[in-house]
Amino acid sequence: MGKKENNKYDQHFRMNLKDAIDYTKEVLEFFPKEAKLKGEEIGDGNINYVFRVWEEGTGTKEDRKSIILKQGDCLLRSSGRPLDIRRTEIEAKALMGYDKRSTGLSPKVYQFDSLMSVIAMEDLYHHENLRKALLQAKVFPQLSEDISNFIVRNTLLTSDLGMDPKDKKKNQREFVNPDMCDITEDLVFTEPYTDYKGRNVVLTENMEFVERELYKDKDLHLEAGKLKEIFMNRGEALIHGDLHTGSIFVTKDSTRIFDAEFAYYGPIAYDLGNFLGNLFFPMAYHRLVNIDQKQNLTREIDFLVWLEQTIVSLIDRFTHKWKRLYDNRVTDPLYAKKEYRDWYLERIIKESISMAGLEIIRRIVGDAKVEDIENIEDIPKRVKVERVLILTAKEFIKDGKGFKDGRDMMECFEKAIYDVEKMEE
Ligand SMILES: Nc1ncnc2c1ncn2[C@@H]1O[C@H](COP(=O)(O)OP(=O)(O)OP(=O)(O)O)[C@@H](O)[C@H]1O
Ligand SMILES: [Mg+2]
Repeated sequence: MGKKENNKYDQHFRMNLKDAIDYTKEVLEFFPKEAKLKGEEIGDGNINYVFRVWEEGTGTKEDRKSIILKQGDCLLRSSGRPLDIRRTEIEAKALMGYDKRSTGLSPKVYQFDSLMSVIAMEDLYHHENLRKALLQAKVFPQLSEDISNFIVRNTLLTSDLGMDPKDKKKNQREFVNPDMCDITEDLVFTEPYTDYKGRNVVLTENMEFVERELYKDKDLHLEAGKLKEIFMNRGEALIHGDLHTGSIFVTKDSTRIFDAEFAYYGPIAYDLGNFLGNLFFPMAYHRLVNIDQKQNLTREIDFLVWLEQTIVSLIDRFTHKWKRLYDNRVTDPLYAKKEYRDWYLERIIKESISMAGLEIIRRIVGDAKVEDIENIEDIPKRVKVERVLILTAKEFIKDGKGFKDGRDMMECFEKAIYDVEKMEE
């Protein structure tokens, strides 16, 4: 898609809906010149501004021609505090890279405008948000295949294993993302365990539990510190950095990963762990809250069976795909050895399970909640869900049992249910 000359957009300003429509007309050669354009603001996040623009009279909502504009501002949308605007360029570049390395698993970027910080991209209107879909017990048979493919290809091929180390270092420079990493370092690694900024939000009924299990557990703090050090220092591959179920769109036969503004060179385990951790929210919700309501019991059980299979097969598929791509691509005489490959892989899996634990805990006690938990109206049930997840997550982080795969994770989750039910007796 071409870009027309227009100096009205030479300097960044924050667009409203009308500006977004004008911008589409005046800058993007996406619609015919005479097209009548309409639009809506669809951004529901905390950070940026997202607009949908479409051509009137080109069909129904499902088949009309449309485009998405995502604009970053130097101020955070929710609180108005400053936030490095270069994150939008990082997101655009990350999305374009995904499209090359794992075609069809992310929205197509039509154009990126670095002056206006606008990403013009494919409208995924026929997809739904994975977090919401999982809450409704919908199953997506291709999910573990697509996500494992996405992570393996985008990490291995941007690391020293799969690309020229000199190019990797240059690439690494492009993706230095200090403000976004700072958010993660605080919200995921430090605040949940120390509440040093007083921003944690904990149910009164769970305050004592959280004090004991999280704030006073020194061994846990040591492990969280070690994982934070890995997040801050191990620039091994270009990771997505925010790969939770809300950053994924799905249909029955398509998976698209978006919202890549946290991308930076970090540990591969962070992406795999983030996604795995987020699967435990619908798992806990359906297993401990919804199933009791006795409606659609078969559907609930089918969903839980599928979700468990997804957790297990995610790691198994990751392992197979990693080995296959590794054997095809890695040429360094030391790295190409099978023993090295397997050591590296084992480390990723172990650290992913620990990272999953951090993600689970931060969503329960931190201020960035997930609706899977926050919307549980029955407070005693929510208290139970939170306790089960906190105990599960602590085991993941401490890794005392030497977790190897999804089966170990599921066993640990079931054990936590048993322990919490025993406490209730
Ligand atoms: N390519 C797309 N196609 C259709 N809808 C989209 C697309 N990109 C974003 N959206 C919609 O806009 C919403 C916000 O997008 P996104 O999550 O990228 O914004 P954000 O400001 O970075 O949010 P967050 O605070 O979660 O980081 C999404 O949840 C989705 O509903
Ligand atoms: Mg975002």
